[in-house]
Amino acid sequence: MESHYTKRPFLLFLSFTVLLVLIRADPDPLQDFCVADLGATVVVNGFPCKPASGVTSDDFFFAGLSREGNTSNIFGSNVTNANVLSFPGLNTLGVSMNRVDVAPGGTNPPHSHPRATELIILLKGRLLVGFISTSNQFFSKVLNPGEMFVVPKGLIHFQYNVGKEKALAITTFDSQLPGVVIASTTLFASNPAIPDDVLAKAFQVDAKVVALIKSKFER
Ligand SMILES: *[C@@H]1O[C@H](CO)[C@@H](O)[C@H](O)[C@H]1NC(C)=O
Ligand SMILES: *[C@@H]1O[C@H](CO)[C@@H](O)[C@H](O)[C@H]1NC(C)=O
Repeated sequence: MESHYTKRPFLLFLSFTVLLVLIRADPDPLQDFCVADLGATVVVNGFPCKPASGVTSDDFFFAGLSREGNTSNIFGSNVTNANVLSFPGLNTLGVSMNRVDVAPGGTNPPHSHPRATELIILLKGRLLVGFISTSNQFFSKVLNPGEMFVVPKGLIHFQYNVGKEKALAITTFDSQLPGVVIASTTLFASNPAIPDDVLAKAFQVDAKVVALIKSKFER
């Protein structure tokens, strides 16, 4: 009985540690910084560091999100990435951001980020944001400027401009490279294509409907 009692704080500590490990996103860095050498031939989990002697202030600066994305495309939206690929200074730091421009009536279509939770803050316009849980419940809100919404890691979500003006949002991620799986293009525009029979069965429609949807994403 005594030993059971003395073990409890340790067990508590252990379960807390396990919890921390489970909710952590990208691994912690082992040095101050590790500006990605995107051209390196060595393949590691992330990117090798460029030599610290060659690192300058410019490596920690990125102006890409200051420019509006062009929304003249089929979805009426444009996502500008500030992830490790466009901003190599983020390598090993476990964070990234996107700029999302959405034209009136446009959508950043249903998609998921396999490696990150997303926090979204609206800067301009009115934006419907929502995600679907694994028990198929739909959670959503219409955001006004300054308001935020959080999308739990890996869940399918979207943004839709319900206002009369352009909408501008900034999204932040707990990963240097969250990854994106866009539901429509993943299923109907993969390379090579998923067999029509699979999609016809999955969506309970005939092959003509599958062909019609595929035709919408031909480049
Ligand atoms: C997003 O905007 C940029 C900058 O205007 C443009 O180069 C790019 O083609 C746009 N992307 C899409 C998918 O329309
Ligand atoms: C936006 O993209 C469209 C379609 O590609 C193009 O016609 C238009 O000139 C672009 N607008 C700007 C401001 O670059």
